[in-house]
Amino acid sequence: MTSLYTPSLMEVVEVRRQTADVKSVRIRFQDEALRENFSFRVGQFGMFSAFGVGESTFNICSSSDWKGFIEFCFRKTGRVTEALWRVDAGDIIGFRGPYGNGYPMEAWEGKDLIFIGGGIAMPPIRCAIWYAIENRAKFGDITVVYGARTTRDQVFADELDDWAKRERVRVVRCVDPGGETPEWTGEVGLIPHVLERSNVPASNAVALVIGPPIMIKFTLPVLEKMGIPTSAIYTSIENRMKCGIGKCGRCNCGPVYVCKDGPVFSLEQLAALPMDY
Ligand SMILES: Cc1cc2nc3c(=O)[nH]c(=O)nc-3n(C[C@H](O)[C@H](O)[C@H](O)COP(=O)(O)OP(=O)(O)OC[C@H]3O[C@@H](n4cnc5c(N)ncnc54)[C@H](O)[C@@H]3O)c2cc1C
Ligand code: FES
Repeated sequence: MTSLYTPSLMEVVEVRRQTADVKSVRIRFQDEALRENFSFRVGQFGMFSAFGVGESTFNICSSSDWKGFIEFCFRKTGRVTEALWRVDAGDIIGFRGPYGNGYPMEAWEGKDLIFIGGGIAMPPIRCAIWYAIENRAKFGDITVVYGARTTRDQVFADELDDWAKRERVRVVRCVDPGGETPEWTGEVGLIPHVLERSNVPASNAVALVIGPPIMIKFTLPVLEKMGIPTSAIYTSIENRMKCGIGKCGRCNCGPVYVCKDGPVFSLEQLAALPMDY
């Protein structure tokens, strides 16, 4: 018997090692009808399970325009991610979703898009970048500012190179001071400082900023100085979740369930919540 909590069986198609402790995984539904008909919005997430161990929450990091499979990317941090670290092509894992609201991509049409991410924050941004690139005519200029602690900590580094070659896409990469190598051609500095000196046009822009709270905290004043209102600055938050569907109350934050009403909020919306951002 199936319930809301019954995961679909997913076959692992490909595993890519991104960094020492980050992997991305492509999976597809075993059930052919589900494989054909599954759809989601970029910015939504799912509950991914290693059988016998448990479930973890990850963003779906592939574009919603890609059919036949989905991808997720995770950092090895604990029990479930340790188990998922061991899966390989041909293995079966579980998936429930898609959950959450996703990014309001339709509302962003006609705008310049500024994507700002730090470290493991690339997966939830990557899906939106691919979506915008593949629906190029709907959006203005695209700027990606991506920071990692060291050159070795960059996630989806090959795709950053690819995006930089695209029409009206600018990619600004940075590593923390001391994290560079002699070959490094990107910026050295923390994301807020690099953003500040990058002269990104912002008069008609929407910004998506995802990363550790400290990074967001110091990036916000820069975005405000650039003239972007808090109603046009978005983030995706990672409150602990259990059910993912508004039943257990685990992710609750004031009047909202982050799993159902979020995880994507504008900074204007977050300002009304009892949250330290
Ligand atoms: C909406 C959403 C999207 C997410 N997307 C991604 C993603 O794309 N990639 C990714 O790597 N991670 C993502 N996360 C975080 C991820 O869910 C947790 O890191 C993961 O569940 C840890 O599972 P575990 O069993 O391996 O670790 P556990 O054994 O449960 O915990 C290991 C350590 O991580 C901490 N931890 C666990 N969950 C969280 C959390 N939600 N926030 C902060 N610290 C936590 C624990 O306190 C502990 O210190 C997301 C979380 C949410 C809510
Ligand atoms: S995770 Fe259960 S209510 Fe949000």
